[in-house]
Order: sequence, then C-alpha cells, then structure tokens
Amino acid sequence: MAQINPSILSADFARLADEAEAVRGSDWLHVDVMDNHFVPNLTLGIPVVESLARATDIPLDCHLMIEDPDRWAPQYVEAGAGSITFHVEAAAAPVRLAREIRAKGARASMALKPGTPIEPYEDLLPELDMLLIMTVEPGFGGQAFLDIMLPKIRRTRELIAKHDLEVWLQVDGGVSAATIERCAEAGADVFVAGSAVYGAEDPAEAVRNLRELAAK
Ligand code: DX5
Ligand code: ZN
Repeated sequence: MAQINPSILSADFARLADEAEAVRGSDWLHVDVMDNHFVPNLTLGIPVVESLARATDIPLDCHLMIEDPDRWAPQYVEAGAGSITFHVEAAAAPVRLAREIRAKGARASMALKPGTPIEPYEDLLPELDMLLIMTVEPGFGGQAFLDIMLPKIRRTRELIAKHDLEVWLQVDGGVSAATIERCAEAGADVFVAGSAVYGAEDPAEAVRNLRELAAK
C-alpha cells in the first residue's frame, strides 16, 4: 500500500501543530532537518521535533540532511521520531548507525543524493527499514522532479526483491499529481510531498488524491 508523507518544509513553521492536523490521515509526517552544512539551508532541530512529537499522533519521519549523523541521529529517536533517515554521503559508519537507530526503537533509513549510486550499498539493504532516493538535490522544497532518477528507483526495487527484503522505497523531491504515478510504476512505495500537499487549498484532499494516483 502506498504511503504518503507530507513534508512540513512547505508548511507554516509558526503553526506546526495545526499544519499536522491539516493532513490527518497521512501515514507519516516528513520532517526535514537541515544544518546549513550538508545542505545550504537551515530548518529545525531536536527541540522542535520533541514538541511536534507531543503535538501530533502522526508518526514522525525525520530526514536528516546534516553532517555527522552518527552523532546526532540517536538523539532524534529520543526526541520522539519513529523513523530516521541519514544520508550515506554524511555517515562515517552507516551499518553501525542503522543498527543503533533500530536498537533505540525507530525505523532506520538511508538516503542517496541524486549523484550517489545504489550499487555500492547493495550489501547494506538488510540493515535498513527504508531507502530514500532523492529526486531533487536536497535543500529546498518546490524543485522540479528529476526524471533521470527513475532508473535508479527501478534498480533499487530490483535489488530489494533480489534479496527478498521488506525494505520500503521512498522518493522525495518534486513528487506531485503529475509525477507520482511514474515513481510508483518504477517501484517506490513511500512518497514525500511538500509543496504538492501544503500548496493545495485542501491539504488532506491532496493527500487522498496522491494516494489514489500512487495505487493506480
Ligand atoms: C528537500 C526535502 C524535501 C522537500 C520536498 O530537500 O528533503 O522533503 O520538502 O518538497 P517538494 O515536495 O516541494 O519537492
Ligand atoms: Zn525530505
């Protein structure tokens, strides 16, 4: 079943609890943590995740676009996140980090920037609950979907099947009613959408619409 994860990067940061309520029925709330080093943008950190976890029943899917995730990721689990995604480009010891996230009780996920191939990481797949394929350069919402990522999505789905794993395959960046069917057809099953949800007049309706399109 397709999962839709609205990204609060496109929400009103002064009204996060209301913005979470506006997408009731979503599977997860996608929380983009940016440190101005790994990406050229700065968003939010542990205290905001703690408050948001208290303010909503929707589980938090934290996407860490930060340097040194080996040091910081476990603290996001303690802050209340149900899923933690670190970038392989930033992690010093991805296997150890994934195991630590799982041991602390959250789902462990690893992200690949558009220029990072999946093949070198095939052996890591059993350590993960989810793999995130970025379909834009991380850092900002509202960018255009990179169609050239579709073969990588397809290839990753093949590798997950080859190893007979239950790993979820998430896409993030430029996912909208115009692009979600291509992603689903290529094998993605978890869809992050920021501007396509919070830019809509009725965000909950946008989530329902995306879910239907992904299931086609
Ligand atoms: C971008 C973030 C995304 C962002 C997606 O670096 O990781 O989660 O919110 O926004 P849209 O859906 O507008 O491309
Ligand atoms: Zn994200």
